[in-house]
Amino acid sequence: MLVTGNEILQKAHKEYYGVGAFNFVNYEMLSSIFEAANEANSPIIVQASEGAIKYMGIDIAVGMVKILSQKYPHIPVALHLDHGTTFESCKAAVDAGFTSVMIDASHHPFEENLEETLRVVKMAHDKGVSVEAELGRLMGIEDNISVSEKDAVLVNPKEAEQFVKETKVDYLAPAIGTSHGAFKFKGEPKLDFERLQEVKKLTNIPLVLHGASAIPDYVRDSFLSTGGDLKGSKGVPFEFLKESIKGGINKVNTDTDLRIAFIAEVRKVANNDNTQFDLRKFFTPGKEAIKRLIVERMNLLGSSNKI
Ligand code: G3H
Ligand code: 13P
Ligand code: ZN
Repeated sequence: MLVTGNEILQKAHKEYYGVGAFNFVNYEMLSSIFEAANEANSPIIVQASEGAIKYMGIDIAVGMVKILSQKYPHIPVALHLDHGTTFESCKAAVDAGFTSVMIDASHHPFEENLEETLRVVKMAHDKGVSVEAELGRLMGIEDNISVSEKDAVLVNPKEAEQFVKETKVDYLAPAIGTSHGAFKFKGEPKLDFERLQEVKKLTNIPLVLHGASAIPDYVRDSFLSTGGDLKGSKGVPFEFLKESIKGGINKVNTDTDLRIAFIAEVRKVANNDNTQFDLRKFFTPGKEAIKRLIVERMNLLGSSNKI
């Protein structure tokens, strides 16, 4: 059943578990996410970036989610706009039927981010849609970074407290050292868990981890075995994901892992049979790989059997 993000995340917040928010750009990714949720008996958040919406068409994206949520009526699913950059983009998503939107004004100064978020919250709450915002910048932190450099990049817990109080945003993404993509850490992986706990204590709302792909060894190996190149890639270690949940993360954004797992299978088919051109022969193993990865992730985050 299509529900608001808040409905899924308030339960996760109270019971201290994480719900995967999985990006999709086509039917193959989306249906694999639903199949995994069905197998693990888990709620899901399916999310589309502005780029993904442009690629699919907003009506097609919403239509596919609606049809799949009718097919699996027992699965609570929220449809979320990932990294909405403007009020207009968030409004278009709300009008089209999204049940959750992110306004990402984190690159603006604090006051501007607050104003823009407040505007989106008013518009979205009016229609019963939940809102996510972000504080700080998504980037890895080096071992030798100074305290002032760290403070300039990562979330400021006191600001987070004021931000949540004034905007009434439903959930917040605090920057604690993750980044998007396959190359998250230059040296040893490092996240600021103390800062995370402080933000949770001062805001007491569901928190979001962006850039949460783990790049599990078997997924990296699978991609490399096809002649693919992922030199220098590093994801968020599984122990860090578990530690994040303990620290108050409830929405766990995952895209890169799905992309690598899917494309590794496509590459395998292409390498094994250079006469093959039936799309289904490429996509079926790709879908299976995504499904397997998501079921594992649901078990790790604690959302399995939470329906
Ligand atoms: O936020 C990053 C997501 O992985 C979406 O990426 O803008 O390439 O669709 P995208
Ligand atoms: P990854 O690149 O780690 O999968 O992060 C995705 C994300 O944060 C989407 O908002
Ligand atoms: Zn993100």
